[in-house]
Amino acid sequence: MKKILVTGASGFVGESLRSVPKGLELIGWHYSNANTFFVGKTWPCNLLDGREVERKLATIRPDFILHLGALSSPNTCELKPDLSYALNVEASDCLAKLACSLDIPLIFASTDLVFDGENAFYDETAPTNPLMVYGRHKAVAERLVLNRSSLNTVVRLPLMYGLPMLNDNFLKSWIAAWGKGECIKAFTDEYRTAAFVEDVWSGLFLIIEKELNGVWHLGGNERMSRYDFALKAASVLGYSGALVRPVQQEAVKMAAARPRDVSMNNQKMRSVGYVPRGLEEALQRIRQGL
Ligand SMILES: NC(=O)c1ccc[n+]([C@@H]2O[C@H](COP(=O)([O-])OP(=O)(O)OC[C@H]3O[C@@H](n4cnc5c(N)ncnc54)[C@H](OP(=O)(O)O)[C@@H]3O)[C@@H](O)[C@H]2O)c1
Repeated sequence: MKKILVTGASGFVGESLRSVPKGLELIGWHYSNANTFFVGKTWPCNLLDGREVERKLATIRPDFILHLGALSSPNTCELKPDLSYALNVEASDCLAKLACSLDIPLIFASTDLVFDGENAFYDETAPTNPLMVYGRHKAVAERLVLNRSSLNTVVRLPLMYGLPMLNDNFLKSWIAAWGKGECIKAFTDEYRTAAFVEDVWSGLFLIIEKELNGVWHLGGNERMSRYDFALKAASVLGYSGALVRPVQQEAVKMAAARPRDVSMNNQKMRSVGYVPRGLEEALQRIRQGL
């Protein structure tokens, strides 16, 4: 039995895991949200406290660390760059150092926002050029984590969708608005290769099972604007397309800059068996859970 420690188990990705493959035991760490929907047992641990992390790691002695814990909102990172640096960079490097001392691999969850959006489709060799604090800090952490050990892995995650119970995400807020007959705004000029969060978990388990290291892109198969995504979501989930209002990025002021098109090439991941569902199929699955 392989023991996997999952940091950020109480987050959107953490709570979206439905089942654990045979031969794996998952232990989660949360921070402020003890009432998680994570499939395994979770324990509190503050990733900003290196001594606490070291002590708790020594007790668990995992075979792998899957590091999801982060300050993951680009706008919050822009407004709180010191906290972003401490959590996204320093805490990630500290964890990578401790993993190295235990001689175990660490998988670091990075983002498509390490790219500037001007040269999609990005593969794993494409140069990074982040436009905002969040992307810059993830890019720095990627290098530190990879430099710590050749066992380590960076997974660049795309925009992910699903319907979390505890956490908020864009799809959940859209459904809440549509349920009240309210319009949502969606960008016509922002493109992503979004992926269903349950499929991303399959990709993460492939990486664990095959002990893949280096950089891997877990993007979905379809490049789509946020607006087309929203129209499709409304249609499959049973709401009127009239509740989706097209807007351009420049019409909505946000703290963090937004790249135009950070679509990722997922060919390398597909070559090892990653099969992300299409949007329609994933939305049908989400609809069943409503
Ligand atoms: N969601 C996406 O579409 C997306 C896209 C690309 C990349 N990513 C990356 O994927 C990973 C998971 O994303 P997510 O959406 O699940 O993020 P999330 O919902 O924001 O969850 C963040 C997690 O980090 C934990 N955390 C925050 N501060 C902590 C601290 N001081 N000590 C320990 N844990 C702390 C939170 O714990 P509590 O809630 O218990 O406080 C939570 O479990 C992140 O690294 C994110 O950057 C996400």
